[in-house]
Amino acid sequence: MRNNDIRKMVIQMIEKHSGIKQDIEISNVTINNTGFNNNIATFHLSYRRGDEYFSKEVVLKKYTSEPNYNSTYRKELTVLKSNALKKFVNVPCVYYEDDEQNIILMEKIQGVTFDQLLLSNFQYRQFGEVLGYIHNIDTKFFLDDFLNINLKQDNYLNVYLTNLRNRVKLFSDQEYMKLLNKLTEQFTTIECREVLNHGDYHFLNVILDNNKKAVVLDWEKAKIADYRFDLANSLIMGYSWFGIDFKEPMLGGYQKITGKKIKDLELFEALLSFDSFTKMIPLIEGSDDSHIRDRSFKWLLRRYELFVKYHGKRFKKAEEFLYSKGLYFHEI
Ligand SMILES: Nc1ncnc2c1ncn2[C@@H]1O[C@H](COP(=O)(O)OP(=O)(O)O)[C@@H](O)[C@H]1O
Ligand SMILES: [Mg+2]
Repeated sequence: MRNNDIRKMVIQMIEKHSGIKQDIEISNVTINNTGFNNNIATFHLSYRRGDEYFSKEVVLKKYTSEPNYNSTYRKELTVLKSNALKKFVNVPCVYYEDDEQNIILMEKIQGVTFDQLLLSNFQYRQFGEVLGYIHNIDTKFFLDDFLNINLKQDNYLNVYLTNLRNRVKLFSDQEYMKLLNKLTEQFTTIECREVLNHGDYHFLNVILDNNKKAVVLDWEKAKIADYRFDLANSLIMGYSWFGIDFKEPMLGGYQKITGKKIKDLELFEALLSFDSFTKMIPLIEGSDDSHIRDRSFKWLLRRYELFVKYHGKRFKKAEEFLYSKGLYFHEI
């Protein structure tokens, strides 16, 4: 996004909203490159309309997905505007949206994302507490707010397992399918409890603002699913990216808020670690890796460490690949 494009987009959006020609001022534009999929720009926006004077730090998010009724844009917008959610969770305020341009203009939260902090047990607990608040909301409260999107996929777990199966089918090594069959078998006796899942709950998507309040961003993957998907995903991602184990304090904070026992979380961790590692098998089997941003491949080693921890099986090819990147496997 260039400054001129940003200007055009914002003018078009505000004019559409107000129905009159609008002059605006934009300064201090920064493009955020830490996100993975979308274009994010932060800047100061000011304009005057009649007696109204708007002058704020804002974030413009342009979604790369196709605009349709269940797009990531629509999903995130609906969640950010949900009054049921806002009662329990801090999210950025939406100033404007434009569904033709696929953009949202929202409040810039002043603070730092959790990955930038030197995290202590206190903050891991807080990170868990916030997820507890999200999961605690009775999904019935969302019915009115979420009428125009579909957050509920029937049989989410089965669909998830089927997708994994379709992936693993293509691998030359049959051992992966055997492990997946074993895992699938274990899930047959699991009792599910569905809640609103954030869907991508990791340190980069939560900001600690200047008042020490945690504000949750990036709701594009929100869905109604078993509560352990969010928990396991968060733990697997936290370890793969940052090499830290924050399970105990995070779950401590989470349970303090929900007051509910967490059962069979390891099974979900096994599932998500299976997913996170097998996504990378094509690399190990020789596909082009030049598009990989983080060339250190340490994150791949960690995904493998978790995989071995939960599935109890080592793979020579994976270890040879890691070795070629200068990395050695140790059991964790
Ligand atoms: N409202 C906001 N206030 C402050 N920073 C934001 C805001 N929205 C996004 N960011 C910054 O941009 C990054 C990427 O935004 P995010 O919504 O997570 O998009 P992506 O889907 O690309 O990850 C965040 O990790 C955060 O650093
Ligand atoms: Mg994000």
